[in-house]
Amino acid sequence: MKIFNSPDRISVEINRIRLGKKRIGFVPTMGALHAGHLSLIKQAAKENNTVVVSIFVNPAQFGPKEDLKKYPRPIKKDLELCRKAGVDFIFLPGNKIMYPQGYSTFVNVEGLNEVLCGSARPGHFRGVTTVVAKLLNIVRPDALYLGQKDAQQALIIARMVKDLNFPVKVKVMPTIRENDGLALSSRNAYLSKKERNDAVVLSKALLLAQTLIDNGQRQANRIITRIKQLISKKRSARIDYVSIVDLENLMPLKKIKPGCLIALAVKIGKTRLIDNIIINEKA
Ligand code: PAJ
Repeated sequence: MKIFNSPDRISVEINRIRLGKKRIGFVPTMGALHAGHLSLIKQAAKENNTVVVSIFVNPAQFGPKEDLKKYPRPIKKDLELCRKAGVDFIFLPGNKIMYPQGYSTFVNVEGLNEVLCGSARPGHFRGVTTVVAKLLNIVRPDALYLGQKDAQQALIIARMVKDLNFPVKVKVMPTIRENDGLALSSRNAYLSKKERNDAVVLSKALLLAQTLIDNGQRQANRIITRIKQLISKKRSARIDYVSIVDLENLMPLKKIKPGCLIALAVKIGKTRLIDNIIINEKA
């Protein structure tokens, strides 16, 4: 496994791989790797000859009051996990290399970045699309692997790839969960034991929604009310949003339809967690 800190250095290797007509699979991450990240790496390894993982805690996607400083950075452990998973190249740039003095270009996917997590985190998705655009130009992969856990992020990146003609295939992989249903997230590490127990309410609420739909409920507002009631039972929980939206454009739906997205963001104590499911409505 080779580790690169600079775009120029990794570029030389990427050129070599591309000349050999080898397929490159790319998994961008902010590190603190868990089984969710590893599932993306595994899929990339299955479908490509070369796997590139980037580890970069991107300051451009954190708001001034967010957790940039305390975001976990267990770099040694991350590198070990990547080595064991058979990653070929790690791209591990510093802030100054990614955003040198005078940096002034940003990529903004309009509209989709204003709803759901976009309204609570202004500028967040602008930071995400900017860094992913840069990473795609540096790594030049054939396929890009993203997690359904961050459904809005995946949709926005797919939109950017289409709109800006990046020659890459976007693959969105299922959410990996703990045994009790909690979606794996690097931010779960912030939870106290009590909060960790309470946090299972996010996935429980989504399961409740699925059950209501299986039993014939089609009114989005009724389902949202039941989800909010369930989550509110936990004293540590503060709901940011519970939304039922069209997966194409993230616009709210009044009635459930196949392929719609139920997404929620809840603060458990001070930790903001998100989760979602795509509804496969039975007739
Ligand atoms: P990060 O939170 O490290 O996530 C990296 C990738 O792992 C994302 O595509 C995310 O959706 C996926 N992922 C996270 N938890 C997952 C889970 N439980 N199951 C499956 N996949 C999961 O998302 C980012 O970093 C950044 O915004 C990034 C795209 C790297 C840009 O900085």
